Amino acid sequence: MKQQIEQLSAYEPGLSPRALKDKYEIEGDLHKLASNENVYGPSTHVKEAIQNHLDELQFYPETGSPLLKQAISEHLNVDPSRILFGAGLDEVILMISRAVLTPGDKIVTSEMTFGQYYHNAIVEAADVEQVPLTDGHFDLEGILKAIDDQTKLIWLCNPNNPTGCYMTHNQLTQFLERVPAQIPVLIDEAYVEYATAEDFPDTLKLQQQFENAFLLRTFSKAYGLAGMRIGYVVAAQESIEKWNIIRPPFNVGRLSEYAAHAALKDQSYIQEVRNRNAEEREKFFELEESKHFYPSQTNFIYVKTDKPQALFEALLKVGCITRVFPQGIRLTIGYPEQNEKMIQVLQSFEF
Ligand SMILES: Cc1ncc(COP(=O)(O)O)c(C=O)c1O
Repeated sequence: MKQQIEQLSAYEPGLSPRALKDKYEIEGDLHKLASNENVYGPSTHVKEAIQNHLDELQFYPETGSPLLKQAISEHLNVDPSRILFGAGLDEVILMISRAVLTPGDKIVTSEMTFGQYYHNAIVEAADVEQVPLTDGHFDLEGILKAIDDQTKLIWLCNPNNPTGCYMTHNQLTQFLERVPAQIPVLIDEAYVEYATAEDFPDTLKLQQQFENAFLLRTFSKAYGLAGMRIGYVVAAQESIEKWNIIRPPFNVGRLSEYAAHAALKDQSYIQEVRNRNAEEREKFFELEESKHFYPSQTNFIYVKTDKPQALFEALLKVGCITRVFPQGIRLTIGYPEQNEKMIQVLQSFEF
């Protein structure tokens, strides 16, 4: 057994809605607003696509998901040889860490960001430098200072989970100009479809300028397919070729590929999801209480409080399950009725 695994613990999913209902004696329905899933679900074409392929369940999927690869290549205008799929970004992060890191190597990322960058680096016995956030934002200057000869990967999360904050195109450009060209900068854009800020990075453009700028995207969030497990990285062809060697041959399921393909083809639905989310998000940021929130370019909001458990329980009492952090809670933006209830709680809460 690798000794370093003892420093880690298995993913804690939190209590199920049923267990929460029992524990807190809640009557009525509970809504899952803890994991930033798309409350509207996927495009209606997705179910049709899945149904059309139900007679193929006995067959392995086509390795490397070629149908979807071609569609993404056209959608993003990148060569298919630069795309690699995983069973969610979770597996993409795992594969990259596994392929690149050896004991004593270092990754640089931020405190309070997506935990899998850290987790997978520790599994590979690499060191992790986590630079503190500045007011919910990645401290790019601090990350540059943390880079040394051992640094093999830099992980950025834009917009950041759990704070929802983003770095701008100019900030990212200036950062990439100063990172040594041999170090891959992995830019996790799991929530990119929700971003509406005009100065949000055009990462595909940045990739043309910086060969070490790699991009990660997923079908789990705005595409509404968290249950299908499919995400991808767009990187330099040489890197993709190496990482592909360690990819489990049939890592992405057959139905997942067809579902993602149908979801990708329905861009008007993604536009609708983005607009509805932005409209609902605005309702939270119009509140006086928004001074307690980090700004958000995502489908979730991080609410800062010294009493996160009390806020979590108050939201639970109105049927909304959120996620507790040491200094706050993170709520997923839901349907208008759910948001209305959460807003009422926030307005009467003593932060
Ligand atoms: C920033 C970020 N990256 C990656 C992931 C993993 O996503 P996937 O469902 O594609 O594995 C998540 C999921 O919450 C996330 O928030």
